[in-house]
Amino acid sequence: MSNGNFKERLLANEHYQKFDAYKQKVLALGNDSLEKTIAVALSLCFVCAILVSFAAVALRPLQLENKAMDMKKNILDVAGLLDEDTDIHQAFASQIEEKLVDIETGDYVEGMDAVAYDQRKAAKNPAQNIVLDRSVDIASIKRKAKIAKVYLVKSGDAIQSIILPMHGYGLWSTMYGFLALEADGQTVKSINFYDQAETPGLGGEVVNPNWRALWQGKKVYNDAGEPVLRLIKGVVDTNKPGSEYQVDGLAGATLTSNGVSNLVKYWMSAEGFAPYLDKIRNND
Ligand SMILES: Cc1cc2nc3c(=O)[nH]c(=O)nc-3n(C[C@H](O)[C@H](O)[C@H](O)COP(=O)(O)O)c2cc1C
Repeated sequence: MSNGNFKERLLANEHYQKFDAYKQKVLALGNDSLEKTIAVALSLCFVCAILVSFAAVALRPLQLENKAMDMKKNILDVAGLLDEDTDIHQAFASQIEEKLVDIETGDYVEGMDAVAYDQRKAAKNPAQNIVLDRSVDIASIKRKAKIAKVYLVKSGDAIQSIILPMHGYGLWSTMYGFLALEADGQTVKSINFYDQAETPGLGGEVVNPNWRALWQGKKVYNDAGEPVLRLIKGVVDTNKPGSEYQVDGLAGATLTSNGVSNLVKYWMSAEGFAPYLDKIRNND
């Protein structure tokens, strides 16, 4: 259809003619007339709504791309592979292997697309989740995905780091993050939280690099194999036995600190990644 043809048909359209006649009538009204004020306001709303809808639809692919890039950045960060000039896509593709794990058995899940799998979405899907009994739900998450996505950093066939997703409730929000462990499935390399809404300066200090650095070298499991790593109130005395299982609590944010202790305990227990980490340790 040519432009000229379209214009002719538009001008001949009965509805357009009515609209045009109304437009002329409104424009002829005085600027302080109520009808003109309302008509101008509604037209403005209409035009803005179209612009906003167009922007939302047009920018959606860019938003998704940025979100995926941000997630890769967080994973590289917790793996200790992020520098200022790191090419995120290239570094992720060449150094991180994405794997799916059956949380209950600890076995790898084959035959599913690990890259496309979204654990957060799966946790909300009744066909893919497990609803948690209150007695075990120490991280206050209510439900969890049956299959988790873990990330491995390897050197040849040997695992260098195991990056595990964790989430749990703080004071105001569910905090989502990663814990990076060494190949022993026991020693912490790093922790980060990429999505949380605790108070900046209080619970929000979970993202502070100085606090995050305190986690390096800490141990998750005691000799009996129980996940005992936790935050304590105050500063850890490194001369005392057991300090390897303790991290400084966040000052003025005991409730967020308890939330972090609970979510680490939950995800490192048999409810979370303990079966998987057992298999890694036994080279299964
Ligand atoms: C505006 C406001 C924001 C707060 N945000 C947090 C928070 O993000 N995390 C937290 O644990 N406590 C927060 N608190 C403090 C808690 O209410 C509670 O007092 C605190 O967790 C106790 O920790 P403390 O024993 O270390 O002082 C906030 C308090 C106020 C008034």
